[in-house]
Amino acid sequence: MHVTHLSLADFRSYARVEVPLEPGVTAFVGANGQGKTNLVEAVGYLATLGSHRVASDAPLVRMGAERAVIRAAVTQGERSQLIELELNPGKANRARINRSSQVKPRDVLGIVRTVLFAPEDLALVKGDPGERRRFLDELITARSPRMAGVRSDYERVLKQRNTLLKSAAMARRHGGRSMDLSTLDVWDQHLARAGAELLARRLDLIATLQPLTDKAYEQLAPGGGPVTLEYRGSAGGGAAQTREELYEQLMDALGEARKQEIERGVTLVGPHRDELLLKLGEMPAKGYASHGESWSYALALRLASYDLLRAEGNEPVLVLDDVFAELDARRRERLAELVAPGEQVLVTAAVDDDVPGVLAGARYRVADGAVEHV
Ligand SMILES: Nc1ncnc2c1ncn2[C@@H]1O[C@H](COP(=O)(O)OP(=O)(O)O)[C@@H](O)[C@H]1O
Ligand SMILES: [Mg+2]
Repeated sequence: MHVTHLSLADFRSYARVEVPLEPGVTAFVGANGQGKTNLVEAVGYLATLGSHRVASDAPLVRMGAERAVIRAAVTQGERSQLIELELNPGKANRARINRSSQVKPRDVLGIVRTVLFAPEDLALVKGDPGERRRFLDELITARSPRMAGVRSDYERVLKQRNTLLKSAAMARRHGGRSMDLSTLDVWDQHLARAGAELLARRLDLIATLQPLTDKAYEQLAPGGGPVTLEYRGSAGGGAAQTREELYEQLMDALGEARKQEIERGVTLVGPHRDELLLKLGEMPAKGYASHGESWSYALALRLASYDLLRAEGNEPVLVLDDVFAELDARRRERLAELVAPGEQVLVTAAVDDDVPGVLAGARYRVADGAVEHV
């Protein structure tokens, strides 16, 4: 798929901007702080309903404005669709598809698919486990938009279960009457049901991603691997694979953890506590890999995501936000060659020289709130 037109109103630094787009490569070039990332962040938002830079919507709305609107025309094969998202921080966001407002924002998921490379990606390797969980879960949702519902069910159940545990912990500490724990049993089942579905998807994704990541790493840094993706579940590892087995495993682990959970007032078992261990050779990349190796690893994970999504039918838009300046000449060239054949590739760079030669294509100058074709 590709985006044929992007239109923003009160999004980030833009009061209004219209950007016609073609398939192939488009580069946005301009000095720092001129609004290049803001453009591609909006494209990414259409694909994930979130920003790759911030956790909430508020910073996405232009300072002083009440709401932001992202509009895009999208073409997949013969089919064209118009999507519109209205961001209302603190209130419900709204969506329209082909001018119909009988849809929820979540219905937009799956129309635009992106694989976004950004300087922030280094945190995939060096950052907290939450970064890697988000990577997995966003890719799961891109593969299967229905999973957005399962993810939010899980988050909701987790929140309510934590509230319950917290009051149990308080009651215990203050010597009040002990709580009726049968309510907790019900929450355990809800948590394990949504958790098992998410877990099954993560395990399936990792199995699929493993060979693709190893291949991509080899292409970026020949002889530097192998890389291994290892899932470390908080409910214990082992043979559990089917959703039913994972459910049982989660229920058992919750049973074992209960005493400790009531003491601490927080849910200690479940996908929200799991870790994706990234190994380079025999060692974990985090804490051991060099800066360059960590970069190659992060890029390999994104390239593997791209391979996976395109193999499953709907080719995603590739977004490379200011990444070439971060890389040495060899990695820069390899990466550029690997992404060049993409159906649509959006690149941002501070100067023309940061855009590799194989990525020649349309070019926009971004300065003073304007985006101009050159
Ligand atoms: N909500 C907002 N309202 C107004 N301006 C914003 C908002 N969020 C970010 N900006 C401005 O956008 C600019 C950064 O844009 P960005 O796209 O990140 O730049 P770059 O071209 O370096 O990628 C900054 O000058 C920042 O002040
Ligand atoms: Mg930027």
